[in-house]
Amino acid sequence: MKTIDLTFNKTSQNYQIQIGQGLLDDKQAFINSIKSSQVLIISNEVVAPLYLDPLKQTLQAFECFEYIVPDGEQHKSLQQFEAIISFMIENRLRRNATIIALGGGVIGDLSGYVAASYYRGIDFIQVPTSLLAQVDSSVGGKTAVNHPLGKNLIGAFHQPKKVITDIDTLKTLPEREFRSGIAEIIKAAIIADSDFFSWLEGNYQAILSQDANVLASMIARSCQIKADIVANDEKEQGTRAWLNLGHTFAHAIEKDMGFGTLLHGEAVAIGLCLAANFNQQRQQLTGVDKQKIFKLVARFGLPTCIPAQLSAESLINAMSIDKKNIDQDLTLILPSSIGRVTIENNISKNEMYDFLAQQLN
Ligand SMILES: NC(=O)c1ccc[n+]([C@@H]2O[C@H](COP(=O)([O-])OP(=O)(O)OC[C@H]3O[C@@H](n4cnc5c(N)ncnc54)[C@H](O)[C@@H]3O)[C@@H](O)[C@H]2O)c1
Repeated sequence: MKTIDLTFNKTSQNYQIQIGQGLLDDKQAFINSIKSSQVLIISNEVVAPLYLDPLKQTLQAFECFEYIVPDGEQHKSLQQFEAIISFMIENRLRRNATIIALGGGVIGDLSGYVAASYYRGIDFIQVPTSLLAQVDSSVGGKTAVNHPLGKNLIGAFHQPKKVITDIDTLKTLPEREFRSGIAEIIKAAIIADSDFFSWLEGNYQAILSQDANVLASMIARSCQIKADIVANDEKEQGTRAWLNLGHTFAHAIEKDMGFGTLLHGEAVAIGLCLAANFNQQRQQLTGVDKQKIFKLVARFGLPTCIPAQLSAESLINAMSIDKKNIDQDLTLILPSSIGRVTIENNISKNEMYDFLAQQLN
C-alpha cells in the first residue's frame, strides 16, 4: 500500500491519498475520515452494480444513503446536481454528513460540487475507479458540472478529506478507458520527471498487463507529481497551468471531432505529440526527446497524429477560444526537455496554422 500526504502551503488543508489493493473492504481506510454517522455514496449505473455492495458492507457502522446517477458525461449536469441536493434535503442529511464519490471523473466532479455546495460545504471522500480519476481528477480539489454552453463552467475548489484508490477496481475498467488514462500519466512524466518517464518506458508491458505493484507505483508517482504542482498553486494562478500540457490541442481536436468520438486521454495523447513536434520544430526540444515521446505514446496504443478529417482552419479557431488565451496570440505549455515544460505566451496564430497544415499534409 502506498500513501501520499498532500499538504497545501497556503490554505493549510491536508489530506491523504491512499493507494492499494482491497481498500474497498478496509474499514480503517474510511473510518478515521468520517466524522458523522451519516454517509451518502454517489455512484453511477455502471460502477454501482460492481462496487456499491462491498462498500456498503465496509461502511455498515454508518447510516448509509445511496444515489445512483446514469452513466455518461452528459449527466455531470445542473439537473443531476439539483436532484442530488433534493435527495439530501428530503432525507435530512445533516451538515456533518460525508459524501463518498464512487466512480470515475464524472462522479468525482459532480459529487465534489454537491459537497462544496450543500450547507456551503460538507466533507467528501473520493473513491476513484477509473485510471483517469485515480491519477488526475481525484487530485487537486477541482469540482464541476457542465453547462449546455461548455464543459466544467460551473464549479468550485473543494478538497476531499481523503482519496481512497483501490487499484482492484481497474480490473473491470474497459481497456480503452485504461489506455486513455495512461495519457495523463505520460503527461505528468513529461512535465516534471524524466526518471519516471524512463520507468514508464521500461515497465509498459507490466502496466498493460496490470501488474498490481507496478500499477500502485505508477499511480502513486503520478499523483505525487500532480499534488506537488497543485500544492504550490492551489487556485491555478501560475504553475498549475503546466498540467495543461497537450490540452489546448486536445480540446480543439475533441471539439472538432464532436465530443465523445475520441476519449479525452486519446485527444491528450495526440496533444502531447503535437506539443513535442511543434517545439522540436522551433528548436526548443531535441529530436531525440520528441521521438521518445512519440514512441511511448504509441507503445500504449494511443494515437499520435491529428485525425485526417480535421482541418487546420477549424483547429486554429477552436484553439483561439481556449480560455488560456487572453489576447490574440496563443498560450501553450510546451516541453523543453523530458521532465521540463515552459509556458509560452506569444505563439502567433500564423505560425500555428502553418504547423497544423503541415501536420495534416
Ligand atoms: N477535477 C479535475 O481536476 C479533473 C481532471 C481531469 C478530468 N476531469 C473530469 O473527469 C471526467 C472524465 O473522467 P473519466 O475518464 O473517469 O470518465 P467517466 O467517469 O465517465 O468514466 C469512464 C467510463 O468508465 C466507467 N467506469 C469507471 N470506473 C469503472 C470501473 N472500475 N469498472 C468499469 N467501468 C468503470 C464509467 O462508468 C464510464 O462509463 C470528465 O468529466 C473531466 O472533465 C476532472
